[in-house]
Parts: sequence; structure tokens; C-alpha cells
Amino acid sequence: MLDIKLLVDVKNGTQAKKIFYDDELYQLELERIFGRCWLFLTHDSLIPKLGDFVTGYMGEDEVLIVRQPDGSVKAFLNHCMHRGARLCNAEAGNARGFTCSYHGWAYGMDGALKAVPFEQELYKGCLEKHKLGLREIRVESYHGFIYGCFDASAPSLYDYLGDMRWYMDIWMEATGGAELIGPPARSLLNCNWKTPSENFVGDAYHVGWTHAASLAALGGELSVLAGNKVLPPEGAGLQITTRHGHGLGILFNAGPGIIGEEAGAACRAWYAENRPKVAEKLGALRAKYYGSHFNSTIFPNNSYLWGTNTFKVWAPRGPHQIEVFTWGIVEKNMPEDLKRLVTSGMIRSFGTAGMFEADDSDNMESMTHLNRGTQIRKGTLNSQMGMGTEIEDPDHPGIISHSAVGETSYRGFYRAYQEFLSANNWDELRANDETWKDEILGAKAGGQK
Ligand code: FES
Ligand SMILES: [Fe+2]
Repeated sequence: MLDIKLLVDVKNGTQAKKIFYDDELYQLELERIFGRCWLFLTHDSLIPKLGDFVTGYMGEDEVLIVRQPDGSVKAFLNHCMHRGARLCNAEAGNARGFTCSYHGWAYGMDGALKAVPFEQELYKGCLEKHKLGLREIRVESYHGFIYGCFDASAPSLYDYLGDMRWYMDIWMEATGGAELIGPPARSLLNCNWKTPSENFVGDAYHVGWTHAASLAALGGELSVLAGNKVLPPEGAGLQITTRHGHGLGILFNAGPGIIGEEAGAACRAWYAENRPKVAEKLGALRAKYYGSHFNSTIFPNNSYLWGTNTFKVWAPRGPHQIEVFTWGIVEKNMPEDLKRLVTSGMIRSFGTAGMFEADDSDNMESMTHLNRGTQIRKGTLNSQMGMGTEIEDPDHPGIISHSAVGETSYRGFYRAYQEFLSANNWDELRANDETWKDEILGAKAGGQK
């Protein structure tokens, strides 16, 4: 029997090991997290023209996203209303409509059911086509990044991102916008979806150790971290957690540290050239952060590394597997040759066969599958590092810790995780808007149970 209260101990900074393994819990996550949160779909730059479409996932639900004649974007369940076959089998393309491969029902790009083979002869006029359009999904975008949400009572995407926008704007908005380089690479990993989400939300601790060989092989300024020979000093970065479990870590002046020397040098020149304009637009503090390395997760499963220019969705495929979608992210106004350099550096580091991606994957898979053991799956996981260092800071939205390495955003992520699983609806979640910070600020490690 699942007791949600026992999954996360916010006060103590621990989580039950079953969060990476339990089937019943996974079904609840699909309903209460993936059924309620804003989930990343695609970017404007990947469906620019009328009829452009991509297919993707929201939780395990397959969806179809289409650019409409009026320039807006609509998303639908990718599921025929006749007998339930997949409607669109392509990953991307351009179409005036979609015809099901099973019996040929045809839908317009607006999702309306337009034509049914032998409709008059076989249905004798009784088929209510106007009631059989595709199920439409709520869609909103932020700086061209398009997200979908199944829950009509969820806040707007703008409010859902909330304080995270202040940090995202440092790269989404700094020099006239960002864009994704696609189509996304797709790969399967045998791990629970939360293992990469938590890693990207706030794990600077593993970098020098898990990635020791890759850092040493690459050279460059971050190679000093290889093998944990040095710790980023106090004041070298920040950790941040915000409402709804989003979070990030910033490592100052380390932006393009692992995308190769040529790309790194070109990026640093680009950042230096643009920093004064960013200061004018976003202020001196954010101009200072522009060009730093960011690791981040937008709750629940959309992660990015700014500086390593990778943008990910960890799409769940059951409790023990994910499909990884990987795009490149670049500033729109970068010269084309710089975009190419940056993207190839990203592919070498965090692409499907990237050195750093491979380093991480092994840990994520073992964290999941060791729980096959009945003894291993008992007990808790520890995220107590830096407890008590979190503060509210008038210059930085959310809750922050002035330390480059710690687990502040882990604790924020799992506080929200438990909150989503416990709440019956968005009204209950809204009731915590004023008090969520107290739980994290008031937490002090009391020893792992
Ligand atoms: S299932 Fe699509 S037309 Fe029959
Ligand atoms: Fe990593």
C-alpha cells in the first residue's frame, strides 16, 4: 500500500528508495504529475510554417503538435477517434491534414474530423462527425518554447514557470531569443525518469568524479575538476529552487567549458561582445551570469544545460525506462558557423553517444535497477548536503544557496514531487503558494533514517 507521506522527508532531506522503482507509484505520477504539469513539446523554430507538425509525448500520452493557418499552435492526442489507432506515425513533417492508416478517417490540421470513407453508404447519416474531432490539449509558449498541459485548472505557463523565468531569460531573452536545433536525437535509457531530472536540477557534486575521464580528456578550464582534485570555491556559483520544483545550479565563468576548445573560445568572444547589451536589457547581475554554465530542470522532466547547449526531455516509458529527446540550444542571433560549432560540441558531450551522457547513464541505470533487490529497495536516499544554507535573497528569486555544490534544488524538486502526488487538484496546490518556502528554509538535517 502506497503511503505518499513516507516518500519524501523534506525536514530531513531524504526520499524513499521506492520512488525509482514502484509500479503503483509510477501510475500515480502519470496522473498527478504528468497529468497536471506543463510539459515541453517543441519550439517555434522547429514548426515555423503552416501545416508543420511534430509528434511527441506528454507522460506516456502520444501527442501531435501542428502549426495552424492563423500562426497559432494546436496540440492533440495522437489517437484516432474511431478505433484508437495512432493517427500520425511520422516524427515531423508538413501536412494539410492527417488520415488514419487503419480505416482512413481523415482529420484537418485543426483536429476536426473531415471525412470518413463511405460515410453515407455505411453510417446512413448518423455519424456525428462534429463530436469526433481529436482531443485538443492546452498549449502555451514562453519565448517560443511550446509546452502543453492536460489540466484546464493549472496556472498559465507563465505563472507555472514563475521565478524560474528570471533565470531562464538570461539565455532565452538575452540577445533576442534562443532556438532549438532539431530534430531531436532519441535514445532509450533503462532508468527511472527522476534519476536524470534530479541530476540536472542540481548535481554539481558528481561532475569532477563521474566525469573525471571525460574532463581530463577534453582539457580546457573545467579539466581542473577531474578526479575531485579541487572543489569549486565558496562563491563560485549558486543553487536555486523555485515554486513547483524547478531548479538550477550556476557555475560562474564556466559557460562553454566542455564543448571543445574552438567552440569554447568562439562562445567566450560572443558572450564578451554581447554582455554590455545584456546588461542594458536585463541588468548588471544577470549580465554577470550570462555566459556561465547552467544546469537545470523545469519540473518534472525537461532539463537543459546552458553553456553545454543541450536541451532534454526525459520521457517516461514505465517506471524503469525513459526515452531521451535531445536538442541543441543556441542564441538565434549567433552566426551560423558558431551555431554549428556549438551544436557539434554539444553532440560530443551530451548527445546520444556523448562522453558525458555515457558517464551519467551508468549511474542512472544502476540507481534504478538495483532496487530489484528486496533489501536494497528498503530505506532512504540522502540529499542533505548544504541543508540550512538556504536563504531568501532580495536579488535572486526563489530560494538560493550561495554555494556551487549542494543539494538545495534536489530538496525543492522532491518537496514539489510529494506535493503534486498528495494534492487532489490545482486548488490544493495553490493553497501552498505562500508557505512552500518555509518547509525548505525550516529544514535541518536530523540524520538519515
Ligand atoms: S482506427 Fe482510425 S480510421 Fe479506424
Ligand atoms: Fe553528469
